[in-house]
Amino acid sequence: MSELMSEEINVIEDMEAATDFELKHTPYVEVSDVEAGRLVKVSIGLNGIEHPQTEDHLIDAICVLVDGDMVAELAFTADDEPVAECEVAAEGEIVVRASCNLHGIWQATA
Ligand SMILES: [Fe+2]
Repeated sequence: MSELMSEEINVIEDMEAATDFELKHTPYVEVSDVEAGRLVKVSIGLNGIEHPQTEDHLIDAICVLVDGDMVAELAFTADDEPVAECEVAAEGEIVVRASCNLHGIWQATA
């Protein structure tokens, strides 16, 4: 099983009280309707706070789940921009997880 499914998951419970550390790790998710269902666009970091992408500290994976089933998983290196785009079905709860090599798994619900 992917580590994105098994490790402890970090979620911002209170956006008003979120720290920069939490904001820079949390996926930013945009969902729009398309002919085949929905288009999900993911980048990392909220409120313009960017996460580093270096050899020592980086976002190394993003996955998209619909109703708990993983429908997309991408891996990244320090040379990549950690963004993801995928089409999903019209129905179901969309959840996105991002993995930081130092700071674990971070989740957002669309
Ligand atoms: Fe990090």
